[in-house]
Amino acid sequence: MKIKSSDIVISAMSPSQYPDDLLPEIAFVGRSNVGKSSTLNALLGRKSLARVSSTPGKTRTINFFIVNDEFYFVDLPGYGYAKVSKKERESWGKVIETYLTSRKNLQEVILLVDIRHEPTNDDKIMYDWIKHYGYGKIVIATKSDKISRGKYQKHIKIIREKLEMDKDSKVIPVSSLKREGISESWDSIKRLFIENKLPVTIEEAPK
Ligand code: GTP
Ligand code: MG
Repeated sequence: MKIKSSDIVISAMSPSQYPDDLLPEIAFVGRSNVGKSSTLNALLGRKSLARVSSTPGKTRTINFFIVNDEFYFVDLPGYGYAKVSKKERESWGKVIETYLTSRKNLQEVILLVDIRHEPTNDDKIMYDWIKHYGYGKIVIATKSDKISRGKYQKHIKIIREKLEMDKDSKVIPVSSLKREGISESWDSIKRLFIENKLPVTIEEAPK
C-alpha cells in the first residue's frame, strides 16, 4: 500500500469528538503494552506518529489517524493493565465499548496479542465481543522478533485455539521493530477494502 500521507486528527474522549466525515475506519485493540501504537506506526512507515512508551497504559484516549485522506486507523486504549485503579479501568472499558458499538463506519477491529504468550482471558473476552459484532478477521501477533521463526506455527496455533478463531480468520506475525509482517498486514487490510467495496485507492508502494 502506498502511504501518501498520515496524520493524527484527534485524541478523543467522547463520541462528540470523533471525526464526522465517516470515512472507513480500522481499529486496533489489545492489552496495554502489546504494541498497538508501534504496529500502527510501522504500518504507516512513521517513527512516532502514535505515541509509544515503555510505561504501559500510555494511550488513554481514542486516537484517530487519517491515511491518504481516505480512511482512518484508530488506536484504542489498551486494557488489562493491572496498575491502574478499578475505576479507571472501568472508564477505559466504557470508552472502548462506546466506540465499538456506535461506529457505523467501522470496517474491522484488529486484535493484537503478544506472539510469545497464550492470549489472556481479557483477550478472549475482547475477541468474542468483536466477533459478535462481525469483526475479528485479522489478528496480529506482535513482537515476533522475540521468538525464532521456527516457533511461529506453534505459537499461532495456541493463539487460534485460545481465541477459538474461525478458519477464514488470520493470525499475522508482526514485528514493528524489524518491520516484519507489514506487507502481509496490508494485504489483509487491502482485501477488506476490496471485499467491502470501499472507496479507497489501492496503490502499491514502490518496491
Ligand atoms: P498502550 O498504549 O499502553 O496500550 O501500549 P501499546 O499497545 O500501544 O504498545 P506500544 O506500541 O506503546 O509498545 C509497548 C512496548 O513494546 C514499547 O516498549 C515498544 O518499544 C515495545 N514493542 C512494540 N512492538 C515491538 C516489537 O515488534 N518488538 C519488540 N521487541 N518490542 C516491541
Ligand atoms: Mg499505545
